[in-house]
Amino acid sequence: MANDNREYDVIVWGASGFTGRLVAEYLARHFGTDGPLRWAMAGRSQSKLEAVREQIGAGEAPILIADSNDMDSLRELARNSRVIATTVGPYARYGSQLVSACVSESTDYVDLAGEVPWIRQMIDTHENGARESGARIVHCCGFDSIPSDLGVLFLQNEARERHGTPCDEIKLRVKAMKGGASGGTAASLMLVVLAAREDRQIARILKTPYSLNPEGEREGLDRADQQGPAWDKDIDAWTGPFVMAAINSKVVRRSNALLDSFSIVSPPIQSLVCFPGFVPFVLLLSFLPVYLLLLVQFQFFLEFFLVALLLP
Ligand SMILES: NC(=O)c1ccc[n+]([C@@H]2O[C@H](COP(=O)([O-])OP(=O)(O)OC[C@H]3O[C@@H](n4cnc5c(N)ncnc54)[C@H](OP(=O)(O)O)[C@@H]3O)[C@@H](O)[C@H]2O)c1
Repeated sequence: MANDNREYDVIVWGASGFTGRLVAEYLARHFGTDGPLRWAMAGRSQSKLEAVREQIGAGEAPILIADSNDMDSLRELARNSRVIATTVGPYARYGSQLVSACVSESTDYVDLAGEVPWIRQMIDTHENGARESGARIVHCCGFDSIPSDLGVLFLQNEARERHGTPCDEIKLRVKAMKGGASGGTAASLMLVVLAAREDRQIARILKTPYSLNPEGEREGLDRADQQGPAWDKDIDAWTGPFVMAAINSKVVRRSNALLDSFSIVSPPIQSLVCFPGFVPFVLLLSFLPVYLLLLVQFQFFLEFFLVALLLP
């Protein structure tokens, strides 16, 4: 990396929030605050950041103040670090200026965004600038997308090494999951749904399986993602769409297009696995696309869905 002489290696922007705090806690536990990794906590509220720093045992980790409405403060962050890891979301509301600052300051950037239309917008706006400045802008670096994105890459590399050819198809099955959606995740989801209701172009981006691919590469051999219930004979179980499938399969298709290395890869269509005894549950989940349509049409369903998401 070119920016070795910057004050920090990583700045976590949003460290007072649910996810940012987890990231800062991880860094504090694994690297301490006076080790070789030079990192800092950033956000818009000094007092909140100080409280979090104390709660997570991050000693004297430096605290930096930057607000999404203050471009100078964002540029200052970007200038002082090799990488900015941001958990300030919804990204469509708070994130665009930081991407711009990182591109102009040649600073690498990672986020947890799952907001496909915003990611499309950032690529269209900043791709050329980032190529010129050398900033690496990496979206979707969270729990949601990493298992499918890197999982497909590793599997195809392995398949090639063992069999001399990549797999025609990869299935990712989620069998069990713990935890719920954080406040920021629910807010981000709500913003995407409302934007799709207002703007047909955004709705189209969400619907198109290849919408994150570079222009001219928006078709492929695989079909659209699974929409309803389906019996999977390979695993003897009913399956339905995994709640993050619509984002993750687009991420995999984009990586595949950028790497340009798998001639016939068919990215995974992710599904939630339930066993035969849970058929009614599967059917319920499998009607998620219909439910999402209702969300888009009626505010009441949207609010009901978000309350349900946030319940423990
Ligand atoms: N892909 C994944 O796997 C994954 C997983 C979890 C979360 N996420 C995404 O990560 C994002 C954050 O989620 P979360 O639940 O951690 O959110 P959160 O708890 O609401 O935290 C949001 C953070 O943004 C800060 N913030 C808000 N407005 C700001 C502004 N104008 N300027 C600077 N900072 C501002 C907040 O600061 P204050 O504390 O001062 O309010 C807080 O630190 C969401 O977009 C969510 O969808 C993705």
